[in-house]
Amino acid sequence: MRVCSIIGARPQFIKAAVVSRELRDVGEEVLIHTGQHYDKELSDVFFEELDIPTPDFNLGIESDTHGRQTARMIEAIEPVVEKTDPDVLLLYGDTNSTLAGAIVGSKCDVLVAHVEAGLRSYNRDMPEEINRVLTDHASDLLFTPSESAVETLRAEGITDGVHWTGDVMYDSLLAVRDDVADRSTILTDLGLSAGEFILATVHRQENTDQQPNLEAIVDGLGSASLPVVFPVHPRTVDRLKTYGLWERTTDRFEVIDPLGYLDFIRLLDTAARVVTDSGGVQKEAFFLETPCVTLREETEWIETVDCDWNELVGADEARICDALREDRTLEATPNPYGDGKAGRRIAEHLRARISAPDPER
Ligand code: UD1
Ligand code: UDP
Repeated sequence: MRVCSIIGARPQFIKAAVVSRELRDVGEEVLIHTGQHYDKELSDVFFEELDIPTPDFNLGIESDTHGRQTARMIEAIEPVVEKTDPDVLLLYGDTNSTLAGAIVGSKCDVLVAHVEAGLRSYNRDMPEEINRVLTDHASDLLFTPSESAVETLRAEGITDGVHWTGDVMYDSLLAVRDDVADRSTILTDLGLSAGEFILATVHRQENTDQQPNLEAIVDGLGSASLPVVFPVHPRTVDRLKTYGLWERTTDRFEVIDPLGYLDFIRLLDTAARVVTDSGGVQKEAFFLETPCVTLREETEWIETVDCDWNELVGADEARICDALREDRTLEATPNPYGDGKAGRRIAEHLRARISAPDPER
């Protein structure tokens, strides 16, 4: 079996590390990094910490408009697929790198497999929502993190090749959770005590690219009674400076560069709560039982809201302030995102499908 995995952005390195580990046991993996994320703290650090092999191909497609970035990825991925002749293209999540891989795979005679299939925000203004829908509809194998995602796909008429495997990010978290306290010195480095700070991340286009939204988030976070630690995505740094909000942010919060996975998980595990618009962080907060305030009006990770660990407040200053004031008592909830063996199941499904190919293909 030859699997060609396509990754390009921070959360994809974390997801792919889990499956890549399994694939090395069962077959050959060709790893393609599109280059969508290229700063050391958004890319290299994850390869080092999570022991991901050096990509066989780095396409060097850096930041650009959505259309041009996706088009340039398609143009660069196609010859690699022709050259390496894989049985399957393995895609993760909902970024432009995911969509580019789905388009190349669907135009070539190669199976397309999607990890994190069946998630929907039902907000078509999000570039990620379009990427998810199109990728799912171009995929032959769809690996879902939850049972509800299987139902979502069924409602869209997709039933063939759907497998509920559980969430690979849960596998990833379990692999580090027990020793992260020994491996990370971030609390000491930042002079923080467990339970006495708030962690914040913001990078979603609808929050960063609209000044009133970003300003409402900064001012809402400013109402926190605990110190706020804010590892800032470069996109957000850029917009905060453009809108004249940078000093207001650095004056109020502990603003730091994006962190590696181990330091970030250590902070998330020990924070009093997290305020975020990240998809992955909402889930990890739930796994670690850290209350989450989500700066969006909807989420794909609906189970985390249904059980009250996650509260949706949008980019609304008053709702952010209210959420930060609330004293929430939450109860442990059964995990709807699997048992930490998603990576192994995905590798097994790939192997089974490749050794018994669809006669119609
Ligand atoms: C992308 C994904 C988003 C995902 C996020 C993970 C899409 C449409 N968006 O968003 O779904 O949640 O990654 O973090 O695929 N930049 C740098 N250095 C880098 C990378 C980016 O400075 O290494 C800056 C550039 O100014 C760039 C901006 O960040 O224009 C946005 O980068 P991009 O990859 O387009 O989108 P993200 O916001 O990172
Ligand atoms: N993360 C990290 N360092 C940071 C912020 C996030 O390692 O400074 C990790 C986080 O633990 C999660 C993933 O990055 O596993 C989430 O990525 P991001 O928020 O960029 O993207 P999304 O999940 O929203 O697509």
